[in-house]
Amino acid sequence: MHAPLGRDFERFGRALPREFPQHVREAYRIDLAGSYLGTALPHPIGKGSGQLSLNQKQLEEDAAAGLAFTVLKTVIAQDEAGAQAMAAWAIHETRMTVEQRAAPGGRAGWTVTWKGRGWDRAFADYLALVRAGRDLSRAGMLRCIPSVKYHLPRLGEPFRAAEYRFTTQALAQTWGREEPLPLEKDFSPTLAGDALAEDRAQILRWLREVPGHIRAAAPVRLAVKLMNARFDDAFQREMLAAAAPGADTLVVFNRLFDAERGVAYGGWELSDRNLRVLDAVRRPAGWSGDLCGTGNICSGRMILEYARCGCSAVQLHTFFQLPLSAYPAAAGSRTQRALHALVFHPEDGLIAGMLELEARGQLERRGGELRFLDLIDAHRRR
Ligand SMILES: Cc1cc2nc3c(=O)[nH]c(=O)nc-3n(C[C@H](O)[C@H](O)[C@H](O)COP(=O)(O)O)c2cc1C
Repeated sequence: MHAPLGRDFERFGRALPREFPQHVREAYRIDLAGSYLGTALPHPIGKGSGQLSLNQKQLEEDAAAGLAFTVLKTVIAQDEAGAQAMAAWAIHETRMTVEQRAAPGGRAGWTVTWKGRGWDRAFADYLALVRAGRDLSRAGMLRCIPSVKYHLPRLGEPFRAAEYRFTTQALAQTWGREEPLPLEKDFSPTLAGDALAEDRAQILRWLREVPGHIRAAAPVRLAVKLMNARFDDAFQREMLAAAAPGADTLVVFNRLFDAERGVAYGGWELSDRNLRVLDAVRRPAGWSGDLCGTGNICSGRMILEYARCGCSAVQLHTFFQLPLSAYPAAAGSRTQRALHALVFHPEDGLIAGMLELEARGQLERRGGELRFLDLIDAHRRR
């Protein structure tokens, strides 16, 4: 298999076909299918919410590249009068710096430094983006998932139900009745860095109660994207257990927060922590939802690390933003170049990694095929 992989790496570096998962299945007998929010995906690679899913052009480019799904930029919830309890997150900031950051052991990885937060334009503009995403989803081109940051009260204060109701219902109406609204609820790193998140009991209450407030407004399939709180690994596991019962999918875990510089960051410290916590928890007891990994995913091998911990899909941001010189492909959009490296790299790609797992006896062919989702089934059985 290594000679054809070398040839595919070479030629797809000039142009990656949108239907590459089909090619992988025919040429390598490898089924890359993944799953996010209970929906089957042609492969497990999606885009995390952020600055790369802000407009229709970005969505169309990603659909053409063959990305499996994209989570739209996080919008800040509002009530019918436009009031936003979390207005401090709707700030405008355009400048982003893609740079290297060393983890405590010294290993340098990519991070994006940015002081911005959520959607900073009108809610009506967000609904227009959701409409475009819905059409691409229905056409089978790209699964698009809106993302919201809702009001989070202090202990003893009530949730602002009007913001939950108005925002969720507007999104659900825009999505239409064909299927429940797919939705991600963002608990962001800047929230982790905020005074609001200094109290453990307060965070656990949000995780237990927020899904109910969203579901009371409209039928949804809900992914809860957990933050890395500024506490220890044991609390991170407590957060998982608190959020699981109300969530169809858990996205694990958003970036770390550098309190000194006042910015969120990624790199190896992020993936080390995420994988360490996931490895220890296995999966929340009695919960059958999907796990979706996020954090420092820059190779197919790293996708397999998250899969080993139960993640049936992954969502990346930083790896879609690197300088062009960092990708091995010579042509294509950033999304195409990233997918090319993640899947076809002869040493670090998903195909190479799955063939290696087979050679080591850690993944077996069924009906002649190696299946990505078998890694998740094996994890569930453990
Ligand atoms: C510039 C930037 C903006 C982001 N904005 C959001 C956001 O609005 N909502 C959200 O849920 N995550 C946001 N994220 C987090 C990413 O979706 C992703 O989960 C995180 O960066 C970890 O993945 P990565 O290491 O591949 O970047 C943002 C990340 C970056 C770098």
